Amino acid sequence: MNKLQLIAEINRLKVEKNAIIMAHFYQNNDIQDIADFIGDSLALAQQAAKTDADILVICGVHFMGETAKILSPNKKVLIPDKEAGCSLADSCPADAFKAFIKEHPGHKVISYVNTSAEVKALTDVVVTSTNAVSIVQSFSKDQKIIFGPDRNLGNYINSLTGRNMVLWDGACHVHEQFSLEKLIELKKEYPLAKIIAHPECKQTILMLADFIGSTASLLKYVQRSDNEEFIIATESGILHQMKKSCPEKIFIPVPPNDSTCGCNECSFMRLNTLEKLYHCLKNETPVIEIEEGIRLKAEKPILKMLKLSKKLGL
Ligand code: 13P
Repeated sequence: MNKLQLIAEINRLKVEKNAIIMAHFYQNNDIQDIADFIGDSLALAQQAAKTDADILVICGVHFMGETAKILSPNKKVLIPDKEAGCSLADSCPADAFKAFIKEHPGHKVISYVNTSAEVKALTDVVVTSTNAVSIVQSFSKDQKIIFGPDRNLGNYINSLTGRNMVLWDGACHVHEQFSLEKLIELKKEYPLAKIIAHPECKQTILMLADFIGSTASLLKYVQRSDNEEFIIATESGILHQMKKSCPEKIFIPVPPNDSTCGCNECSFMRLNTLEKLYHCLKNETPVIEIEEGIRLKAEKPILKMLKLSKKLGL
């Protein structure tokens, strides 16, 4: 099948099966274009909790599929490629995290959404990059907190809130890789450009940023800004929506350390393709399944996050 046929078949199957295709901003352009809903991790969870579709196709990585399944247990949740994992979630195995929690009695556990269902089941409240700072601030100043698994996001939250959360030592392989030297060169080349960065980046990158935020916040920032040029330090998939909504502006991705290519892509996110999406809808596989005991435990901290986000107007 050629691309046009694939698109037509996916659209036909979607209607026939009452399915919704939900994509993260880091997906390939083709997938973003065919999705019914595109968003950051928080928006995907919010949408998964309220959709009336029978089938949810999560075009993102595995933990996003799990989050959708946790929130919509009676729906069929599919992911085009089950191998689409997350280096950050993998950096925090549940057994080791459980032992870490045990070493820190009296601490509340705040986990980034980029975690397995098993880790969420050990957590008091889940956060995403959109609501992390506000949710941490909703705890009293003297509350001891464990934050995992992203040390860069954790350090960023500590610096903004004056907290001293105990951090799990994990990181996202994409955001760890941005080259400071290349960022400095880009800023010299485009002196008027605003540098915008995701809080999963290292502190050295964040120190140079004019704005720091989740993918949805970065998109909103470029849409609202009077500036014409932006240097972007996050996975380069977000540039697709930026270019679509602001075709007159210039977006320059920060490259990784070890590459001559111009952008930094998450190889896991990019495993999902139109062809795999078609097969996934047609055959209704791979399916995301979660053991019910774990699901029930993981649901609580996610629902808490959704409730707090609503209260905070996020
Ligand atoms: P947001 O979706 O919150 O912007 O975070 C990006 C990310 O880490 C996706 O895995």
